[in-house]
Amino acid sequence: MKSTAASIQILSWEQAQAWACPIRLEVFVKEQGVPKELELDEDDPLAWHAVAELDTLIIGTARLQKNGKIGRLAVMQAYRLQGVASAMMNALLKFGQQHGIKEFYLHAQIEALPFYERFGFVANGPVFNEAGIAHQMMKRAT
Ligand SMILES: CC(C)(COP(=O)(O)OP(=O)(O)OC[C@H]1O[C@@H](n2cnc3c(N)ncnc32)[C@H](O)[C@@H]1OP(=O)(O)O)[C@@H](O)C(=O)NCCC(=O)NCCS
Repeated sequence: MKSTAASIQILSWEQAQAWACPIRLEVFVKEQGVPKELELDEDDPLAWHAVAELDTLIIGTARLQKNGKIGRLAVMQAYRLQGVASAMMNALLKFGQQHGIKEFYLHAQIEALPFYERFGFVANGPVFNEAGIAHQMMKRAT
């Protein structure tokens, strides 16, 4: 696993949205074709958000809901395969554990299963369609 020089902060939606929204729109709406109205949702204001910063640029984001669900993991294309998503995952898992979360879960895009397995997530249940993309539920105990 590569180690990135990016710094990771965990923020409220109020603090994070100006940075997180452009990245999520670029990656999920523009690159992956997720409908814009599904991308930002009512869970955002209640979730914690990781933002990754490198040389004053925000290059990645992810969120953790209070029920242990991790999602919206996105890194700008030019900064992928440098360990940025891994650093955000580690930061959110640590933060969640410190805030009493006992079990984490997520809906993984099928291609990303091997990525999440590195963090101890295990596939659970059938493959399903979400926003037009095949997903797999994965769980991890703390
Ligand atoms: C998935 C994503 C967040 C990974 O970000 P990243 O910063 O490149 O991830 P990292 O550098 O921390 O980890 C990369 C490692 O995971 C593996 N990996 C990442 N995405 C993968 C995928 N879709 N399939 C298989 N392996 C993957 C890489 O092969 C790499 O392995 P290596 O360390 O041996 O080189 C990024 O590709 C992205 O934003 N994709 C579009 C949005 C998306 O699909 N989000 C996930 C939704 S479930």
